[in-house]
Amino acid sequence: MSDVENFIDFCTSEFGRRLMDQEAEYIRKELQSCKRILDVGCGIGSIEQRLPEFNITGIDSSDEMLQEARKGSDKEFIRGDAGNLPFEENSFDGIFYLTSIEFLPDYKKALEEASRVLKDRGKFLAMILNPDSHYFKNHTNKKDSYFNRVKHRNPGEIKELASRYFTVDDEYFLGIRDEDTFPTHEKEYAALYVLKGMKKE
Ligand SMILES: C[S@@+](CC[C@H](N)C(=O)[O-])C[C@H]1O[C@@H](n2cnc3c(N)ncnc32)[C@H](O)[C@@H]1O
Repeated sequence: MSDVENFIDFCTSEFGRRLMDQEAEYIRKELQSCKRILDVGCGIGSIEQRLPEFNITGIDSSDEMLQEARKGSDKEFIRGDAGNLPFEENSFDGIFYLTSIEFLPDYKKALEEASRVLKDRGKFLAMILNPDSHYFKNHTNKKDSYFNRVKHRNPGEIKELASRYFTVDDEYFLGIRDEDTFPTHEKEYAALYVLKGMKKE
């Protein structure tokens, strides 16, 4: 199966849908005040489907992912690189990365670009796979797991660099044990490490 087929399989499974629902709810709460939002590394548009009331533009470098995204939502999906965003400066009120920034070869350039296209005091949100979680470790023990493509396994470094451009708080979110999900902020159980803040003026 191709990456996209595998990804669709996961996102449409009962477990995958449950995860995506909770991730979308988190994004809804964090970005509800934002008029125009950019989703960087939008994949097959799972979040766009779940947040129909939001004005989101999805960008991804994969044509195959975008083709699938367009089937599920009539939002705008654009092909492009996180490190070279095809938008003018001060274009967005909010920007988010859902399990995407840690896969980028150059997250530093991506953060610079995020800051450029965000308006002053625009919201920044990065939901990063937590390498310290049992969930992550279980996946990376499997040879063919997509998680093995994560390029940055020290999210603290991403936080440090993000702090140049944004006020940043962090928290752990989304407990996963086997296929059960539960609320937690514990590092070893939370599947995601979240950075959230606002562009500095
Ligand atoms: C793990 S998937 C996450 C997709 C989506 N955010 C989600 O949570 O369902 C990572 C996505 O990042 C995209 N991606 C990787 N490198 C990229 C780049 N340089 N610019 C934009 N997107 C990129 C991939 O094509 C893929 O769709």
